[in-house]
Amino acid sequence: MGVHIGIVTVSDRASQGTYEDRSGPAIREWLKLALSVPWQEHYRLIPDEQGLIESTLRELSDQVECSLIVTTGGTGPAVRDITPEATEAVCGKMLPGFGELMRQVSLQSVPTAILSRQTAGIRGRSLIVNLPGKPAAIAECLAAVFPAIPYCIDLIEGARLETDPDFVKAFRPKGA
Ligand code: MTE
Repeated sequence: MGVHIGIVTVSDRASQGTYEDRSGPAIREWLKLALSVPWQEHYRLIPDEQGLIESTLRELSDQVECSLIVTTGGTGPAVRDITPEATEAVCGKMLPGFGELMRQVSLQSVPTAILSRQTAGIRGRSLIVNLPGKPAAIAECLAAVFPAIPYCIDLIEGARLETDPDFVKAFRPKGA
């Protein structure tokens, strides 16, 4: 089984070309440093439309068979922010610990980290993780939660992820 990873930037303005998406590429660059196995990226840049976010997540999970799907943007309290709701709508199980940990870590940099409603969940053999839209949030949030991601994907019978331990150490409980 190949390692397929979805990167989904959710932003009205970036998808209209008002500004360049910097968060999606930041996720790509971080994953390039983190993963020691070959992987294939599936990038999507879409507006903050709940139906479109849901259909994109379903496609990346069901058709492309991504083991991991990372979203960026749309997690805040603004009127159009709807990424956590779309994530919850397509997931069979939620993993609230991801959001809790990422907010805790982000709070050390910005007090407005409490405004992020980011979460994570499982759809089939895919783990979906929301990150905030700020490029600076990407490395901070991924570094916090990534140690648990390879084992989570083992448990849902996705692809086996291996990391460069000098960059981020994947934790697998003994005997796993
Ligand atoms: N987390 C980190 N690490 N760095 C940040 O700059 N910005 C916060 C928060 N989390 C931020 C962060 C702010 S200001 C908001 S409104 C929320 O994420 C939601 O951002 P989003 O709507 O772009 O997802």
